[in-house]
This record gives sequence, structure tokens and C-alpha cells, in this order.
Amino acid sequence: MTDFSSHRPDWWRQAVVYQVYPRSFADADGDGLGDLRGVTDRLSHLAGLGVDALWLSPFYPSELADGGYDVADHRDVDPRLGSLADFDALAAEAHRLGLKVIVDLVPNHTSHQHLWFQEALAAGPGSPARERYVFRDGRGPSGELPPTDWQSVFGGSAWQRVPDGQWYLHLFAREQPDLNWDHEEVREDFRTTLRFWSDRGVDGFRVDVAHALAKDLTEPLRDLGSPELVGEDVLAHLPPGTHPFYDRDEVHEIYRDWRRVLDSYTPPRTAVAEAWVPGARRALYARPEELNQAFNFDYLQASWDAEEIRTVVTDSLATARAVGASATWVLSNHDVLRHASRLMLPPGTDENAWLLSNGHAPSVDEAAGLRRARAATLLMLALPGSSYVYQGEELGLPEVAELPVEVLQDPLWEQTGRVRKGRDGCRVPLPWTTTGPSYGFGAAGAWLPQPPYFARYAVEAQEGVQGSTLELYRTALRLRRKLLDGEELGWLRDDTPPGVLAFARHDGWRCVTNLSDVPVPLPPGEVLLTSVPLDGDGRLGPDTTVWLA
Ligand code: NOJ
Repeated sequence: MTDFSSHRPDWWRQAVVYQVYPRSFADADGDGLGDLRGVTDRLSHLAGLGVDALWLSPFYPSELADGGYDVADHRDVDPRLGSLADFDALAAEAHRLGLKVIVDLVPNHTSHQHLWFQEALAAGPGSPARERYVFRDGRGPSGELPPTDWQSVFGGSAWQRVPDGQWYLHLFAREQPDLNWDHEEVREDFRTTLRFWSDRGVDGFRVDVAHALAKDLTEPLRDLGSPELVGEDVLAHLPPGTHPFYDRDEVHEIYRDWRRVLDSYTPPRTAVAEAWVPGARRALYARPEELNQAFNFDYLQASWDAEEIRTVVTDSLATARAVGASATWVLSNHDVLRHASRLMLPPGTDENAWLLSNGHAPSVDEAAGLRRARAATLLMLALPGSSYVYQGEELGLPEVAELPVEVLQDPLWEQTGRVRKGRDGCRVPLPWTTTGPSYGFGAAGAWLPQPPYFARYAVEAQEGVQGSTLELYRTALRLRRKLLDGEELGWLRDDTPPGVLAFARHDGWRCVTNLSDVPVPLPPGEVLLTSVPLDGDGRLGPDTTVWLA
């Protein structure tokens, strides 16, 4: 049996990593915002779940213009979320419980409150302080037009004008100026940050927008010519490596440099790239001489369709294997609709329009969504590679689509001129108890309103309850740990009815998912686990996964 235990340096290859979005996880000090002590207090939940590691989304000083991804100091803790001592206590307790700790690194941009950006504003055009960012004069007779047609992922121009007339680049919110990675001081500062957290004992890093750091800043800057295409959509329209700021070949030099820092530790620190780029290009970030892993969002983006998922799995395994990495799988995170809702939306649904309808057009059958989510999860957990689980999915939480627009905090809402509702619906604070203020999230209210039906999903409502989603995750993770052996997958095509996915990991572990809308014969073998109880009629119902020996 292959040893994938936590003491191996490549523990991450088949790890299950739990994403904590700190301000929505647990609030120990009762100010309505989750904090590090809240996480430490609840680490037993993670240990009890059976995950291998936790990934903490940013907890650094931030005005929360983009939920903490606007970092004012990469080497400190936001006072509202705690202190460095609180972080050390969290890491120590996690390690005591056998959990690895991954922190988020946000190297593409800083907060506009970062000391460097404040210096750049004060120092004026042409100053060395401005060189750390991307400042340019505007176009037009008096520089009143942005330097290029580049668009922010959050809407509108990616350039913001400052009072002295220059413009700075922000691929995300205005409060997130992009750093200039051609600048040696920027590179050295992030080496220092990698060492800072590695010295504090973190086991790995999640690298935010890993594909955007290297930019072609040679003059004159190039227009993209298709301003209607924003974010990663533009990549599909250009030959690989030629986009002025996404997925340029030079970005890999940065990660080879980081690898030297990460490998200077024992055991070597790992990293996972958030890079929304197509498969084979994405795998380059995961090369052993770079980060080790890259999030694969293809499973998350696939429709609930057997053939589509089979293709995604086959391709993802092949591209990861080609570079010696293990595959990664994600169903939910803090940027996307929770999968218990998303998987029920017909292919092609405009997700924003759905959110604007408060989840009514089309309406989603909650029970059916949960059933499908559980089937998708068991399928994911049976795949070779590592799975990233987002807080609350172990409770089966649906997307809170009905958040009133007055409470929205995501910069997407304002920056799109109140057109895109954004990502707050998956960031609503977790319910721990069935009653009480904020359902046990904290002593006060929660920073986003929790709907009354959260009580049904609370940890307290599910703990020890046979058949609950929480207990399903626990059982699945325990069993998975025992069953893991090798990184192989073989599709079982013989006798597999249409709409059914069946594969074997090895002789003692097969996974069969019925994605069709009719029951199919249950394949022979010992039933180890099912995503919902079987009817006892020898058939596998729609939207059901079974693990067989
Ligand atoms: C990706 C993060 O996951 C997202 O939440 C954030 O808004 C952007 N990067 C910008 O940092």
C-alpha cells in the first residue's frame, strides 16, 4: 500500500485540503467577522472530518476591498483577525492535530493602502517608488484616456487615474494596484515573504492569480483589441504565451526562483497555483521545479454530464502526469457558486442573471441539488490526486442566492455598475449551531446575513446523524485514506449504461456514478459507501455514487 501519510515530503500528491475563508469561518471575539482564534477553536472540526491540510485564505492586514485579497502587508495579521501570535498558535495546534497549513500568497497586486503604493502616490511621476507598480501616462491630448484598452476582471478599465494625471494598472479592484514583477525589489520582497511564513512553519502556499505576474511592459503597451473579453476569456483568442499579462512564458522564471527558496526548507514547502489557463499550459505551473500543483477548475466547470466529466478527468490526469504532478480537483471555492446549487443549473445558465433573480429563475430543488452534490463529491474523492474542499460544502450548504443587494460586499457589484452580484453568496458565515446568534458563528451577528434555513445545515444538526452530509464526508475521507494506493485510474466501459461513469482505482476500489435520470443496475461487488442510501432494489438511482470493493 502506498504511503501517502503526512510525513512524506510529497504529502500533497493525494491530500484533501480544506479551504478556510477566515472571516466567514468562526468569530471568537464577537465582532461579526471571523478570526484566527475562531479557526484554532474549531480545528477539531477539520481533524474530525479527516482532511490532511487547511488552506487559509488571506488574513493579512486589509481594508477588505476584495475580501482580504487586497493585502496591505504580506507579513502580518489583520488586527481584526488576530495577531502573529494567534497565527503561531493556530499553526501549532494544526500540526499537533496532524494537519498541514497552507497560506495564501497574493503576489500580483497589493492593497492601495500598502506602504509601497502610498510611497508611489506621494513620490510622483518618474520616481523609483512608482517603478514597483505599473504607472503610465494616459493617451489623448491631455492624457485623459487610459493607456490601453485593458479591462479589469471586476469590470471597467484596468487603469485608474491619480490626481497628478498618471494612471496605474489594476487587473482587479481599483484598490488592488498591480505590482511590477520586472522590478528586483518586488521579487526580493516576495522571497522574504516566502521565508517569513516558511520560518513560521507553514507547509505550503496557494498562489493567487499565478498566471498574471509577468507582464509585457515594453513601450508602447499593446491594446488587446477586444475589450469586451475580460479575464481569462481573452486567452482563448491569442496564441499561447503572447497575451500581454496572462500566462506569459517568463512567469515560470519566477516560480523556478521560488522553488529554490521552498526547497531550502526541510521538508520542502509546497505550493499550488491559481491559474485559470487551459490544461496543458496550466500544468506547467505544477512542474516539480516550480510550484508542484495547479488548481484544475475543469471539473468545477464541467456540466453534470458523464461524457463531459470522463473527458475532463482523462485530460486532467494526462496533463498532470505529463509534468510529473498529481491532478487536483475542486468543486467549490470562495469565488464560485456553491456546487449544491450550481450543479442544478441547466448548462448555459447565466449565473449572474440567476443571482439577480435571487435564485428563482430557474428555481433550484434544494434536496435534488444536495443529492447531486453528494454524488459529485464521492466521485471527486475517488479520483487520483488531491481534492480541495471549501468550508461549508461538508455541510451541503447551497448558494445563498437571495442576498439583498444592499448587503453585498464583493467589489464586483459596485465596479460593474451594480450589474454583477458577485461572490458573496458562497461566503456567508458558517452555521455551527441550530440556534443562537449567527448560528454559533460568533457571539454577535455575522457580516453577511445567514438565511433561516442555515439552521438545518448546521454542524450541530448533522453531527452524529446517520446519513447527514457531514457524516458522509467523514466516512468518505476515513475510507479514502484506507483505500488510497497508487495514482492509477482505469475506466470500466463494459456493460456501463449511458450516463454512467465507472472506474477502478485498484482491485479493491471502484467508483460508479449514475449521472442519468433513470436507475441503472448496481454493479456487482461489496458496497463500501453510497452518496445516498440505496433503495434495496439492486439498482443505482439517478445522481448517486457508489464505492465498491
Ligand atoms: C483570486 C481570488 O480567489 C479572488 O477571490 C480574488 O478576488 C482575485 N484572485 C484577486 O486577488
